[in-house]
Amino acid sequence: MAVIADKCPDIIVTLVDIDQNRIDSWNNKDLNKLPVYEPGLKEIISRIRNKNLFFSCEIESAIKDSDMVFISVNTPTKKSGFGAGYASDLKWVESSARQVAEFSVGHTIVVEKSTVPVKTAELIQHILNDAEKNSRNSSNLKSFSVLSSPEFLAEGTAIDDLENPDRVLIGGEDALAVRSLSSIYERWISSEKILFTNLWSSELSKLTANAFLAQRISSINSISALCESTGAEINEVANAIGADRRIGQKFLSAGPGFGGSCFQKDILNLVYLCKYYGLYEVAKYWEGVLSINSWQKERIASLIVEKLFGTVTNKKIAIFGFAFKASTNDTRESPAISIAKYLIENGANLIITDPQVTPIQIEMELSLSESQQCKLGGGKWAYSKDHKYCVKNADAVILLTAWDEFKELDWKDLICLMRKPSWIFDNRKIICIDDLKGTDVNFWQIGLGTIHSM
Ligand code: UDX
Repeated sequence: MAVIADKCPDIIVTLVDIDQNRIDSWNNKDLNKLPVYEPGLKEIISRIRNKNLFFSCEIESAIKDSDMVFISVNTPTKKSGFGAGYASDLKWVESSARQVAEFSVGHTIVVEKSTVPVKTAELIQHILNDAEKNSRNSSNLKSFSVLSSPEFLAEGTAIDDLENPDRVLIGGEDALAVRSLSSIYERWISSEKILFTNLWSSELSKLTANAFLAQRISSINSISALCESTGAEINEVANAIGADRRIGQKFLSAGPGFGGSCFQKDILNLVYLCKYYGLYEVAKYWEGVLSINSWQKERIASLIVEKLFGTVTNKKIAIFGFAFKASTNDTRESPAISIAKYLIENGANLIITDPQVTPIQIEMELSLSESQQCKLGGGKWAYSKDHKYCVKNADAVILLTAWDEFKELDWKDLICLMRKPSWIFDNRKIICIDDLKGTDVNFWQIGLGTIHSM
């Protein structure tokens, strides 16, 4: 919404939320304290906040004043009840639709922006149709058009993805409403990039796009294990297959498994949908993508223990990177969570460093406060920003996020501080083997395996 406001100075964009603290953070004068770390975002906010971009808890008046409402609430996987573990929890979408139904005035275009299961627009439409009917006897005659316009941005590159998207998708039947929304995007995106579909195709395209991207990662990760066993090298294989234009070079980086708020959730949704329609073979196919992802994390965690003489009890292990990818402070579904938990359960003393993730976030994700003894295995964790302190007397360094600042470290210097025999486990292929020449470190890299003498 910040990008829309930035590109369209004549449109007033008001972001509303029921959480006063969150709105206060978005209004924070100190732009380094915004709730989301996203390169380029604070510059936009400093340029247009309180000009045509507002953050507020005044939901009623914001809806009343709006011609178009974007529902952009989160839709996490349900933890309990009907569809638990697979289906998305739509309670926030539903309550937002009810608020729009209640407070809108005249005609309102409602745009479904959250990633939602197919047919969610039906739920929104149902609620709004009732409001439309009930308003017929009142002086405030209401009407609505529902559109689906899923968001394809990726975290860390969100601003560029929005400014230069591969495509924008608009699903809906009401030509006038579709035209209104597309005219906003056309201010900075060429019209060939704006695709029009029916509502359900639009919703399904979003789930399918994420499922395909996740599938590529599971595919390359499965081959990374085979490379480690056979002496092939994953980057060479990725380059060779990516040279085929039908496959392409992007999204072929092997790693510790995908994280983030979308891939797992969307595939679970797809699986749920397939099962609902009796398409069990299709469901099984997509579940395979998730199984490989879990397996990749488990195999990395257990191979670390195996390499450290089969035990990590009381060993100091430095974790470099806790965010699910570089350039974000988001830790949702980060592979670091399960790998760290496994090592703590096995008695390791972890020291975690990340340029943007805070210790409070780590504590929440691990459900274990900093330095608290773990009941299971006696391991614990601590946090530090000081890389030298992290590696001092450590038995191993585990690289889990490809932050630029990790690429620029003087690894030879750091290795000198470690306890011997020392190990580096590079899960993101960010360390160049030549930079370790002359050291006695044991080096393991994803899709390559172990190199003992440097
Ligand atoms: C994803 C989609 O890319 C985006 O289009 C959608 O709108 C939201 O979900 P995001 O989750 O922000 O975006 O990050 P993305 O860059 O896709 O990475 C997801 C995960 O896959 C990360 O953990 C990343 O490290 C991992 N990944 C990505 C790999 O392991 N290898 C790759 O080659 C690419």
